[in-house]
Formats: sequence, structure tokens, C-alpha cells
Amino acid sequence: MRVYIETYGCQMNEYDSLMMGTILKAQGYSITSTPEDADVLIVNTCSVREKPEHKVFSAAGRLRKFKEKNHGKLIVTGCTAQQIGEEFIKKMPYVDAVVGPHYTQQIDDILDEIDRTGKVVKTSFLNSPMERFRKKFSPSLIRGVSAYVTIMEGCDNFCTYCIVPYVRGREISRSHQDIIEDIRHLISEGIKDITLLGQNVNSYGRKDPDEWDFTRLLEEVANIPGVKRLRFITSHPKDMSDEIINLFKKYTNIVPYLHLPLQSASNRILKLMNRKYTVERYFNIVEKLREARPEIALTTDLIVGFPGETDKDFEETLKAVEKIRYDNFFSFKYSPRPFTKAAQFPDRVPPETAQKRLEILQSIQRKITLEKNREKTGTIQEVLVEGKSKKNPLEISGRTPCNRIVNFPGPTELRGKIVKVRITEAYQNSLRGELLKEKVIA
Ligand code: 5AD
Ligand code: SF4
Repeated sequence: MRVYIETYGCQMNEYDSLMMGTILKAQGYSITSTPEDADVLIVNTCSVREKPEHKVFSAAGRLRKFKEKNHGKLIVTGCTAQQIGEEFIKKMPYVDAVVGPHYTQQIDDILDEIDRTGKVVKTSFLNSPMERFRKKFSPSLIRGVSAYVTIMEGCDNFCTYCIVPYVRGREISRSHQDIIEDIRHLISEGIKDITLLGQNVNSYGRKDPDEWDFTRLLEEVANIPGVKRLRFITSHPKDMSDEIINLFKKYTNIVPYLHLPLQSASNRILKLMNRKYTVERYFNIVEKLREARPEIALTTDLIVGFPGETDKDFEETLKAVEKIRYDNFFSFKYSPRPFTKAAQFPDRVPPETAQKRLEILQSIQRKITLEKNREKTGTIQEVLVEGKSKKNPLEISGRTPCNRIVNFPGPTELRGKIVKVRITEAYQNSLRGELLKEKVIA
């Protein structure tokens, strides 16, 4: 039996897809990268904006013929499954199961249930970490020598534009014992680079008075021998404490890289978004981070065209982007989502205005990103080698501690090693360099 999994959206979804694959492999399935010959077809969906949500319906429609030809099963999982629920089957009766994010770890039982009872809908929320994170499958998303380890999931913040709290549910944290055990295991398997993953990592453990908080967890992980590089996503600026900033100073294996979503730099809009910080506080965090780790690379998320956003509000965002000079960012046009407060807000921004704002923002950022990349030429960087370069098969490729891609001539045997590379050229999305001989560091 073969299973095909198509994944949309964030790292959380990639993690869930990997998990489903792992569980089904343990049941004797093999994973196939082509839907034509699959017995089980899974579409793992995202609903954070309208565009990915639409893709889901076209994907399910496209996969229908393979399900019918192979007398297989077609299953929709993830956030759009949670959002639309039973209606999905009414709209697309050839879908066998609609499975919210909390049930992806029960995919094996769900397949059995389809055999027994026909259609299955699993969209009620689970509240205990024990139910959500079934321990028997080590939940790590591994890419080469890097691994993502989920520490928590869900969100209690209710930013007014965001569907996540409604589809991923309330915050649930894994136990620190499980997390530490997983990381030790990964290190023993040769992993060097760990990313702690969660919708809102700073809230780790907050609901359980006996659990560690995020600062303690980060410090304990930084102290595990063999963790050469450590990062975490995603942080909320309102929870970015001085203690966490100090850890950037204290531990050099916490990499100088932070994704810190700003969303908007107008205090009026931040308030409407329910973000609970001001732009002044955000600037202050950036200042302290740069003091603690001058080379820190910062990235962010920005939304343009939020209801009520005026030209003046947008200019505030532009000014902030020019002041902070992010290494890169993701920017999105506001997209009204079901269940969210902002979907009811007045003063919708015309799509053409939002599009224009997006283009202005992106062109400024392209310029800053290139300038920042050029600042790296001539420097010597520690590069964790990932393997053959995608662009040139004669070269190898890796990442700097700040997460920049570096291509350089060298042998593929260096995969997994950290080497010293002198940067010789800078491009929009990558750097080029030359390997310094005898410089394998780890
Ligand atoms: N419209 C546009 N962008 C959104 N995001 C979340 N919800 C919306 C929405 N309704 C963006 C935010 C968030 C990122 C993951 O997606 O910038 O940080
Ligand atoms: Fe969405 Fe805000 Fe929670 Fe992030 S912090 S997942 S933007 S509600």
C-alpha cells in the first residue's frame, strides 16, 4: 500500500505530514511522491490566508481521479479541514475523511475507521498534550543535519486578523522531558542544528505551573553537548523578555538569527490587530538584541492593507523597515478570515491600494537585503554544509549562522560539517565563497 501526502503552509504542517508518513510507514505503507499509484491520498491544508485555502479545493479535485482509479482513500487534514469541517464532504463527497490538526497523529486509526464506518470527521479540539502528542513517534522534522522539534502548538493570542487560534486551538506544550530526550536522540544521530518550533514559542509551559518556562527550556537545550546551532520560531514581540535577549549574549550556539513578526509599525493599527506592543517597544527590543549580539540577523512578517490602514499608517511601516533594516521579511496583503474579528472591521482597503503598498515594501526590502548581503563580502563565515548546490552540481552549499545560503566549490563529503568560508560575492538570495583549507571546525 502506498501513501501520497501533499503539504501546504507552515513548518507545523510539514511536521504533521512527516508525522503521518512515519506513522503509516510503521503500519507497512510506503511513501510515494506521485499521486498516480497511491492507495491513500492526503492533502494537508493551510488556511492562514485565502489563497492557500483555495489551493486546497483544487488539490482535492485534482486527486479525485487517482482515488477513484485506485479504489483508494482521499483525506483532507490540517487547518482548512478544521475550518470547514463536515461541509467539506458535502461539497466534495468523494473525500473520505476531514481531519483537524489535533488528529493527524491518529491517522492510522482514522484509516481503520473509514473501513469500518465510511466517512470520518475529526474536528473537535483535544486539550491534553498527552492526547495531542503521542510519544511513540519522535516528532522531529529532519532536513539533512538540521531538525525541527515541536515544543508547543496552538495560540491564545487572538490577533484580530488571524485564524490560527480557531483552527490549531489553544496553546498546548509538550513536556520538557520529551523535548530534551528527542534532542539528545537527534544529536546522537548526527544532527547539529536544532530549531525549536511552535506558533508562539515564548508561551512554552505557561499553562502548567510545574513546567519550565521558555527561557529555562532554551538555556537547557543550549547546554546539551553537541547542539552546535540552536534557533526558535516563532516569537511574539510582546513576550520577548530581557532574559531571552541575554541568552543571545551568553550562548554562542544560539544562532544570531531571530524572526520577530512586526505586522505593522503604526500603533493605531497594532492596537486594532490586538498585538499588545507599541512600535517603540519593538524598536527597544531590536536595540537590545543588537547590543547583545551585534551580528544578529532579523526577519519579520508584515501585513499591508489591514482594515483602516491609511497612507500615513503605511508610511510608518515603511519608515520602520528602513530604520530596522531587516535581513529579509515576508509581507502579505491582508486577507479576511472566517471567525476573526477583523473580518467585521469597517474601512476595507481597496485591493489595488494593498497591492501597491506590497510592491513598494518589497522593492525597498529587495534593495536592503542585497545591501546586507554585500556587507558580508570579504568576511569569513562558519558554514554548516547541507550538500550539493542546487544551482551548480560542482559546488556545495550550506548556511551561515544567520541562515544565509552560501555556495562554494568543495567536496560533498563535507556534508554535515561546519567549515570556514571566505565570502567573495553577494546576490539577492545567496552568497558565494571559497573554502578555507584545513578549516573544518566541527
Ligand atoms: N491576512 C494576511 N496575512 C496574515 N497572516 C496571518 N493572518 C493573515 C491574514 N488574515 C500573516 C501574518 C503572520 C503570518 C504567518 O501570516 O503576518 O505572521
Ligand atoms: Fe496568529 Fe497572532 Fe497567534 Fe501568531 S500570535 S498565530 S498571528 S493569533
